[in-house]
Amino acid sequence: MLTTKEAIEKRRSIRKFKPDVIPQEALGELIEAARLAPSGSNTQPWRFKIVNDQETKNKLAEAAYNQKFIATAPTVLVCCASLKEYADSMARGAKDLGKTMAIEPHILKTLENRADALRPLTSAQLGPIVGFHVAIAIEHIVLRALDFGLGTCWVKLVDTEKVHQLFGWDENISIVALLPIGYPSEDPKPRKRKQLSEIII
Ligand SMILES: Cc1cc2nc3c(=O)[nH]c(=O)nc-3n(C[C@H](O)[C@H](O)[C@H](O)COP(=O)(O)O)c2cc1C
Repeated sequence: MLTTKEAIEKRRSIRKFKPDVIPQEALGELIEAARLAPSGSNTQPWRFKIVNDQETKNKLAEAAYNQKFIATAPTVLVCCASLKEYADSMARGAKDLGKTMAIEPHILKTLENRADALRPLTSAQLGPIVGFHVAIAIEHIVLRALDFGLGTCWVKLVDTEKVHQLFGWDENISIVALLPIGYPSEDPKPRKRKQLSEIII
């Protein structure tokens, strides 16, 4: 098992995969890593579709502007946000947080007001707000995958309309990213990063 530091340093976006199937147990552990992620007011809005069949993976690759490598991964996770869940549990969450944490009453009131302010928002407006929380869960998966020798690649360049149609989802599901997962058949060098001095403002 890698330390968190090792996982962060070793991780690369992987776009070439061996065809080997991912054991069910490992996939379960990845979803478990997502389940344990933090989220605002503990709303846990993430939802995952696990795609193993080739035909659906081909369609996902096509929806991702023909990023063909996606279809070569043994598994593709469609990482989504449940917008209704988020809006509903924001209100519930404020009350629950009040029970389990020492939160000042005026902060709870602010959270409740925030929940009310979300109600009139359209799905298009709410999607990025909720996607922020889902992204944390996705990165948990990305880092945990290394413990199983698995590689992943975030894919955000996706025509989400096409993915909605593919699964027949309504507007309460917002698609955040695709995550192809598999055993790497490439070992990319670290990609360039800015210096610490460039990112401290
Ligand atoms: C939010 C997000 C969206 C991304 N979308 C894509 C994508 O659509 N296709 C792709 O090949 N890589 C995608 N990437 C991978 C980035 O290109 C990659 O993380 C970056 O070049 C740094 O390389 P590294 O991940 O190997 O360190 C995405 C990464 C992130 C975090």
